[in-house]
Amino acid sequence: MSSPISFYTLAGEEILSDILASLPFMDADFKSRSIDAVSQLAAARGPLLKFALPFGGEAWLVTGHALSSSFLADRRLSKTSPLQDQSAPETHRLYRHLLVTDPPEHTRLRRQLRHALAYWTSARIEALARDIIARRLAIPGRDETHFDLVAHVAMPAALEIACTIVGIPLDDMARIHAWNDRLTRSDLDGTDQAAEVADEIEAYLTGLPERKVDHAGDGAWAALRRAASRGDLDRREATALAYLLLSAGYETTGHLLSSAVWLLAGDRETWRTVAADDDAAARAIEECLRFNPSLELSTPRYAREDFEMAGTTLRKGDMVFIALGAANRDPSIFRTGSLFECPRAGLAQHLSFGRGPHICPGAGIARVASRTIVQGLARRFPDLRVSADHRLEWIPGLVMRGLRSLPVRTDSE
Ligand code: HEM
Repeated sequence: MSSPISFYTLAGEEILSDILASLPFMDADFKSRSIDAVSQLAAARGPLLKFALPFGGEAWLVTGHALSSSFLADRRLSKTSPLQDQSAPETHRLYRHLLVTDPPEHTRLRRQLRHALAYWTSARIEALARDIIARRLAIPGRDETHFDLVAHVAMPAALEIACTIVGIPLDDMARIHAWNDRLTRSDLDGTDQAAEVADEIEAYLTGLPERKVDHAGDGAWAALRRAASRGDLDRREATALAYLLLSAGYETTGHLLSSAVWLLAGDRETWRTVAADDDAAARAIEECLRFNPSLELSTPRYAREDFEMAGTTLRKGDMVFIALGAANRDPSIFRTGSLFECPRAGLAQHLSFGRGPHICPGAGIARVASRTIVQGLARRFPDLRVSADHRLEWIPGLVMRGLRSLPVRTDSE
């Protein structure tokens, strides 16, 4: 329960007001310890914290594993605000996708997305990821003894996976990256480039030639276009889903890859086990996901109505984020949860892919791709380690959690 503070008017009337929790996610120093900071604040103040958003306004932050799990599946929360200002400019059609839609509309879109991803079985993802890591490590002219793992492996590999799944020609990967970069930057500095970028992405996607549309291997975009031709989706919905696959799959997987290397290569024994044993490697990736999820907070939700939760009243229209990272370290579920421990039991309970209707449909893809790429690195570079003098820096931001760079050395010490 958030503790109220008393203020008094000049007439002596008492006013109770919630103390806003100080959670400066845009501050690089805070971001480096934000998951534990949220847990500690929740232990002192209760599981529902009200905090100031980086660019104005307030939101609730839900902490603790039990409360977070139930909020993720709570039908009293919606993905759109019930108080939406009718005079405000409409959200661009490209961004009106699954993450801002509620059932039953959401259920219909989700079914089409599942069909569009059906081609990408674990075996195909594994083969794709093997091929990508082999090619990335064979790029001529790069000094293999030290390089930035984020810039040279994690992000390009994740981008290639996302583009291949969607069916974007690899020659266009740089354009996808540039659009993503502009969106991330505009989120960070508060400039609004979202509509302009959306127009460009939409024009690009709809302008892509429909190649070999009878072959499922052309990617999810071709499958979504086929669904639109059959009338199962409209064109706008199909385009928004293709864009969502690109944006939801790229940075998340890239951030997991770099944080997994940081966590796993820190211990020789673990790094060797990852190289040698597929099952142990899959479990190790799961612990990396738990300890350091690419989405530290969920995407936002809104109270549809006034309701009570954990002794606190949420008002209709209140914005809510769920602290996935802090839930994953809740000691009542994961003993010693604030420590990275490999191996660890009970990992199925982590919330890094969310829960409820919006649970990540790309979780299987992300797991297999990350395991394969990290294993590829561990086999090729048994001595890989983070450069000794490097100070880790996390990219500031509310929802995403990722390393800005990770200089590594691969020569023997
Ligand atoms: C390590 C990698 C990934 C992580 C940690 C991750 C995490 C998540 C989380 C937590 C959500 C739910 C957000 C919420 O409820 O507010 C989500 C949704 C989503 N993810 Fe992922 N994701 C990853 C990779 C991927 C990949 C590879 C794809 C696509 C191939 C993907 C596609 C999606 C989509 C489409 C949604 C929206 C689902 C919906 O609203 O119904 N994700 N992801």
